[in-house]
Amino acid sequence: MNQAGAPLAVVDLDLQAPGPGEVRVRVNAAGICHSDYHYMVQDLACRTPIVLGHEGAGIVQEVGAGVTHVRPGDKVILTWRPSCGRCEYCTSGSPALCRLGAVHATHNELLRGGTRLSHDGQPVHHLMGVSCYAEECVVSGESVIKIPQEVPVAVAAIIGCAVITGMGVVLNGMGGPAGESVLIVGAGGVGLSAVIGAAAVGAYPVIVADIDDEKLAKARELGATHTINTREHDLAASVHEITGGGAHWAVEAIGRPQTIREAVVALRPRGTAFVVGLSNAEAEINVPLNQVVQQEKSVRGSLYGSSNLSVQIPQILDMYLAGRLPLDALIGEKFSLAQINEAFDSLTNGNIGRSVVLM
Ligand code: APR
Ligand code: ZN
Ligand code: ZN
Repeated sequence: MNQAGAPLAVVDLDLQAPGPGEVRVRVNAAGICHSDYHYMVQDLACRTPIVLGHEGAGIVQEVGAGVTHVRPGDKVILTWRPSCGRCEYCTSGSPALCRLGAVHATHNELLRGGTRLSHDGQPVHHLMGVSCYAEECVVSGESVIKIPQEVPVAVAAIIGCAVITGMGVVLNGMGGPAGESVLIVGAGGVGLSAVIGAAAVGAYPVIVADIDDEKLAKARELGATHTINTREHDLAASVHEITGGGAHWAVEAIGRPQTIREAVVALRPRGTAFVVGLSNAEAEINVPLNQVVQQEKSVRGSLYGSSNLSVQIPQILDMYLAGRLPLDALIGEKFSLAQINEAFDSLTNGNIGRSVVLM
């Protein structure tokens, strides 16, 4: 991306060899996530020029000095929030909140400083340390997780953001709500992953709200027990009717203040709504104060599913390889890198499931 708002350009860039602690990866697949779109339209700021893409998987080609956890030929998932392993968040089981990762998120460089990409001698920036809308990328060693060769690349790619974010909020935020009611607002890649997680742990009912009937049909295919088209029905009233008093848990996977408010109203007393959708940098939320106090409702944020990636990605892969997670059915349209702008058009025009770019 050369500048915000302009279509993405597919151009040849120079890629340096990996420095100490870094890895060069041949990207095989990358997911189309709404977060990239937030950067494209500069809801969220980043330095330009930049290579977008933060959900991907591929094969390690080359490792820099000191890298021992992967070697050439390994299949890896790229992750977008590297962690140091030493700070108070890393050592207490919340590596997504790592202090180092939070700093890294804003500077559009690799962990060890600088960029490894350039065009005509000018630096090109990295998005979230990944930049996988490309045939190859150089990333920090902290940004790759080795996976079994038999995992298909498209599935591996979407695990790196949508799946771990959506399943993570159910597993970690809600603590695996078997037998409890879960409302998921937004049936995009992240929301549908929450559906898969809620179904896998035995939540009931699993209610999904969206404005698109085809997306709701996909949600039912993946495990939703009830769906609400909020163009036709009031969200909170429908949820109160289905659950007989409100949902135990909610996830808002769109990033709209109004739907976050509705998710809170849809809760039962003591219920908790998790917000995973990003919005523009200035967005604020407004929730009914008396429901928060008199019904003890909570609103919580969840970053990257509040996951411990190095523990939970292997667990998700084991469940998938054992046939317990319908991740193949989550994959939507497939595009080539040359079609990257079409892929984003489809994201904003009702694509079903998670679209992927295959390189
Ligand atoms: N009411 C209900 N559903 C809506 C509404 C609305 N007013 N507006 C949009 N939606 C639905 C869309 O139809 C779509 O199914 O929300 C879904 C959003 O999905 P995607 O665009 O595919 O977004 P996704 O990649 O899943 O990301 C969701 O999480 O990580 C963040 O930045 C990301 O904010 C984004 C959110
Ligand atoms: Zn994402
Ligand atoms: Zn840390």
